[in-house]
Amino acid sequence: MLVRFAFIAALASAFGFFLAPFEQETPEQPIAYSHQVHIEQGLDCATCHTTAATHDQAQIPSVSKCMLCHAAIATEHPEVQKLAAYAERGVEPPWERVYGFTQAAHVIFRHASHINAGVECETCHGDLSQMTVAEPAVHHDMGTCLNCHRESGASEDCAACHN
Ligand code: HEC
Ligand code: HEC
Ligand code: HEC
Ligand code: HEC
Ligand code: HEC
Repeated sequence: MLVRFAFIAALASAFGFFLAPFEQETPEQPIAYSHQVHIEQGLDCATCHTTAATHDQAQIPSVSKCMLCHAAIATEHPEVQKLAAYAERGVEPPWERVYGFTQAAHVIFRHASHINAGVECETCHGDLSQMTVAEPAVHHDMGTCLNCHRESGASEDCAACHN
C-alpha cells in the first residue's frame, strides 16, 4: 500500500494538471427519469437506492423495479415506452454515473457508515426533490471529505479512505 501511495503521490505532483479538479457536468441519461416527479409521489430514496443504509453502494434500481409500476402507469408516455423497451429486451438502461472517483485515487467510500452516523443524503447530493435526472450538485474531493471528518471527529487516516 505504501508503495502505491508513493506512486500516486509522485504522479499527482508530476502530472498535477491532469488531476486538477474539474467542474462536473450533468451527464446525459438514456431515459428522462425525474427524481422530482417520483419524490412528489411520496417515494423514499430507499425505495430505489435500497442498500444505502446497509452497504458500500446505494445502488441504482433495476428496470424491473421501475416496471412494477410502469407496466400499468403512464404507459403512453414516450419516455416510459423507452423504459418498457429496455425491459422487454432484458437490458438495463445504461445510466451514466454522476458521482464517483477515478480508479487511480483508490478511494474507499461506504454509504452505510455515513447513513448510520446520521449524515443526510442531501448533505452530499443536494435536494433531489428539485431535480429531474441527478445533477452533480455537491463537489466531492479529498478536501471536502476531510473537512467534514475534521468537524465531526471522523478518521483522517490515509488508510481509512485509501486502499
Ligand atoms: C457523506 C456523503 C454521502 C452521503 C451522506 C450519501 N452519499 Fe451517495 N455518494 C457519495 C459519494 C462520494 C458517491 C460516489 C462514491 C463512489 O462511487 O464510491 C456516492 C454515490 C451514490 C450513488 C451512485 C453509486 C452507488 O453508490 O450506488 C447513489 C445512487 C447514491 N450515492 C445515493 C445516495 C442516497 C440515496 C443517499 C442517502 C440515503 C446517499 N447517497 C448519501 C456520497 C454520499
Ligand atoms: C411506485 C411506483 C413507481 C415506480 C417504482 C417508478 N415510477 Fe415512474 N412514475 C410513477 C408515477 C405515479 C408517475 C407519474 C405519472 C403521471 O404523471 O401520469 C411516473 C412517471 C414516470 C415517467 C414519466 C415522465 C415524467 O417525468 O412524468 C418516467 C419516464 C418514469 N416515471 C420513469 C421511471 C423509471 C426509470 C423508474 C425506475 C427507476 C420509475 N419510473 C419507477 C410511478 C413509479
Ligand atoms: C423511483 C426510483 C428512485 C427514487 C425514489 C430515487 N432515485 Fe435516485 N436515481 C434513480 C435513477 C433511475 C437514477 C439514475 C439516473 C440519474 O442519475 O438521474 C438515480 C440516480 C441518483 C443519484 C446519482 C448516482 C450516480 O452517481 O450516478 C443520486 C445521488 C440519487 N439518485 C439520489 C437519490 C436521493 C437522495 C433520493 C431521495 C431523495 C433518490 N435518489 C430517490 C432512481 C430513484
Ligand atoms: C458531511 C460529513 C461527511 C462527509 C462529507 C464525508 N464523511 Fe466520511 N464519515 C463521516 C462520519 C460522521 C463518519 C463516522 C462514522 C462512524 O465512525 O460511525 C465517517 C466515516 C468514514 C469512514 C470510516 C468508516 C468506514 O466507512 O469505513 C470512511 C472510510 C469515510 N468516512 C470516507 C469518506 C470519504 C472518502 C468521503 C468523501 C468522499 C467522506 N467520508 C465524506 C462524515 C462525513
Ligand atoms: C476522508 C477521506 C480521505 C482521507 C483521510 C485521505 N484521502 Fe486522499 N483522497 C480522498 C479522495 C475522495 C480522493 C479523490 C479526489 C478526487 O478524485 O477528486 C483522494 C485523492 C488522493 C490522491 C490522488 C491525488 C489527488 O489529490 O486527487 C492522493 C495521492 C491521496 N489522496 C493521498 C492521501 C494521503 C497520503 C492521505 C493521508 C495523509 C490521504 N489521501 C487521506 C479521500 C481521503
